[in-house]
Amino acid sequence: MYINFWYPMTTSEELADQPLKVRALGQDFVVFRDSDGSANCLSNTCTHRGGSLSSGKIKGDCIECPYHGWQFDGEGGCHRIPSLGPDANIPGRTRVDAYPVEEKYGLVFAFLGDLDAAERPPVLAVPEWGQDGWRATLQHYDIRGNYERSIENGLDPAHNEFVHDTHGFGGVDEAYKVNELRIENSPPWGQGFWHTFNAPPLPGQMKEGRTQSGDLDVGTGHHGPNQVWTYIHASETTWFHQYLYERPIDDEHVYVYLLCMRNSFLEEKYDAYMIERNQYVADQDKTVIEDLRPVLTPATSTKEFMVPADKVILMYRDMLKQWDAKGWRIDSDCVERTSGKVAYAIPSPARRKQKGWVLDVIPLIPGQASETQLKAAG
Ligand code: FES
Ligand SMILES: [Fe+2]
Repeated sequence: MYINFWYPMTTSEELADQPLKVRALGQDFVVFRDSDGSANCLSNTCTHRGGSLSSGKIKGDCIECPYHGWQFDGEGGCHRIPSLGPDANIPGRTRVDAYPVEEKYGLVFAFLGDLDAAERPPVLAVPEWGQDGWRATLQHYDIRGNYERSIENGLDPAHNEFVHDTHGFGGVDEAYKVNELRIENSPPWGQGFWHTFNAPPLPGQMKEGRTQSGDLDVGTGHHGPNQVWTYIHASETTWFHQYLYERPIDDEHVYVYLLCMRNSFLEEKYDAYMIERNQYVADQDKTVIEDLRPVLTPATSTKEFMVPADKVILMYRDMLKQWDAKGWRIDSDCVERTSGKVAYAIPSPARRKQKGWVLDVIPLIPGQASETQLKAAG
């Protein structure tokens, strides 16, 4: 798991007038709206004696710890320590880590890292959002598996034939093979491919969008370690552009938000069917991903036998190595060894400017980036 990327913490709809506890990258966060409705995300551990801020109350622009009532604003600053009385001087070191938040596409994203704004990899953009002739559905679900396995599943052109009866034929055609992958590079944060395969007609209510078996054009790629775009062009005019935003809960669990944009069947009455169909496909992927072993991808590529259809998965793994080289990978083994003894914080941008923090920064695997590698990684 990596710091310094945007992670989807919750939906705009779910974040109402109560604070939410959200787990990401193996750590807890509190997400809450302040008095003008803006979303905020803080490390969940109170700097006093470790209270869980998300179990507290929202007071104006602050979240109040349930244990002794300390109040923290959306920037992480402590505004009130009731035991000191009303006019107390509040030491700066009481602050908690606060993370940049962007609310868009019906989701609340937090930037879990310490990069300054100009250096941050952006959220995967949805150009169709709000455009005439497009309509969105949003759904979400958990997978008991590693998020990299889930992203790799999205980059895998060879599973459709076998995992999805809506996209393939279960291998009945003896001449079946994966066609050429047309690689689409979009460095520095991602890469993908387009590929054409034989697929059945659209089922059910959307049948008229694609009435016969035939070539289906699909493009897919990753953006950062945890986001995937998939464009399904069912016919010349019926397009589904899907965006997966994944939040690793920890190394062995992931929460997935699936935003599906469509340019046909624009009436609201098709939303429920769209969601149901997407979930049918997602559940098929989930079943496979939850049984993959090892749960995490192996540390060396010799422990799996890769074939040309796995090309983009290998490209994804290579890109992860570039972020390893930057020192962005969390040292999960170390976190696990100290579990129960140390409360960590994902470093926030303010740590680059201010010294004096109560919580330790989460252990990171030191990068070995040479200047050339850093340049290549953007
Ligand atoms: S632990 Fe939060 S106020 Fe004491
Ligand atoms: Fe799939």
